[in-house]
Amino acid sequence: MYCVKKIKDDIYWVGGNDRRLELFEGVYRIPSGVSYNSYFIDDEKTALIDTVDKSVAEVFFANLKHVLHGRNLDYIVVQHMEPDHSATLERAAMMYPDAKIVCTAKCAQMIRQFFSLEIDSRLQTASEGDVLDTGRHRLTFLLAPMVHWPEVMVTYDAADKILFSADAFGSFGAQNGDIFLDEPDSCYINESRRYYTNIVGKYGPQVTALLKKAAAADIEMICPLHGYALRNNLDVMIDKYTKWSSYTPEESGVLICYASVYGNTQNAAEVIAGKLSEKGIKTCVMDVSKSSESEIVAMCFKYSHIIFASTTYNNGVFISMENVLNDIAAHNLQNRTIAFVQNGSWAPSAAKAMAKLLEGLKNCKFIGETVTIKSALKDSDMCCIDNLAEAVAEDLQG
Ligand SMILES: Cc1cc2nc3c(=O)[nH]c(=O)nc-3n(C[C@H](O)[C@H](O)[C@H](O)COP(=O)(O)O)c2cc1C
Ligand SMILES: [Fe+2]
Ligand SMILES: [Fe+2]
Repeated sequence: MYCVKKIKDDIYWVGGNDRRLELFEGVYRIPSGVSYNSYFIDDEKTALIDTVDKSVAEVFFANLKHVLHGRNLDYIVVQHMEPDHSATLERAAMMYPDAKIVCTAKCAQMIRQFFSLEIDSRLQTASEGDVLDTGRHRLTFLLAPMVHWPEVMVTYDAADKILFSADAFGSFGAQNGDIFLDEPDSCYINESRRYYTNIVGKYGPQVTALLKKAAAADIEMICPLHGYALRNNLDVMIDKYTKWSSYTPEESGVLICYASVYGNTQNAAEVIAGKLSEKGIKTCVMDVSKSSESEIVAMCFKYSHIIFASTTYNNGVFISMENVLNDIAAHNLQNRTIAFVQNGSWAPSAAKAMAKLLEGLKNCKFIGETVTIKSALKDSDMCCIDNLAEAVAEDLQG
């Protein structure tokens, strides 16, 4: 049965929700699922903005048939050719052979790569600022390369002041009935941050460029390709995006990420966290072997200061810490203050390995004397622990 949601008098959400997929893009845990959004404009001409992932194909095609009420589909706008949005494009294009395909030249090339579909006879190439007039709506296309692929464009509808933002302003998490989220709560912001930082976090300058373009438009609603449509409190999410894309910490506080086989490095992490808390500093402790890499990367984008504490493992850093640090470097984290704790029973060397993995990070400051623990924390180690906590606190509190 179709399941469409009204956005405006003549704009409908025709996407679908997937709560069964374990790993988005084969790597990101999505305990609350994910939505694949597609939008239909029921104007003098009919237009579809993006299709959906194949997992929700059946409901999507039922939705599309329902909103068309027997009319022809005139345009399929392809903002992003990644298969979570375009796996059903070929089927849609074959079902509605009269529909023009509107996309960037780069996107057209990708359509040819992914499908055997003949598109040249029905292609309408979109460049920066091009307008598609559907009657009441005038859809202006703005290029947004690398948010999240090179062919991406977003679409601004001046009639209803809506920005169809492609992957930008998206979030993990399936929709709970409503298409709108009027109050972005901490749950939503957490999943939105995890989505942004892991999917597009690497491309901060490109997101900043898009935000600049968007700032010139009068926007009352943002319709992304994942998660909820936003219509109130847009400032809250725009502020988050401004911080995330410029690698500006959201919060002055300390994230302590530890890797521990037997629990002794964890113990040191807890002791430092307690000391920082006593100084009135907001502290968050995470076990890199338990929390997923995507959760850790997201939290690294949130906090200003990070302490990495790891067991030495085969003359290097513990495997889950190594994975996390590689991921942090791959996501281009910047502007952070970092300190290390290492543990080892015969030749502690985890800190050196950690520093090496993070040496390419831009504008990061490494502070405090690395704390070295030989197997388990002793009274004699406490002055080093105190010194590190003091150095971090001083840096943070000035
Ligand atoms: C597979 C394995 C490899 C290890 N390799 C080293 C090493 O190369 N150098 C070292 O000093 N300690 C090594 N250790 C010992 C741990 O780093 C050390 O016992 C440390 O105290 C563990 O801290 P934890 O209690 O937080 O796990 C290794 C331990 C394991 C399990
Ligand atoms: Fe994408
Ligand atoms: Fe996507």
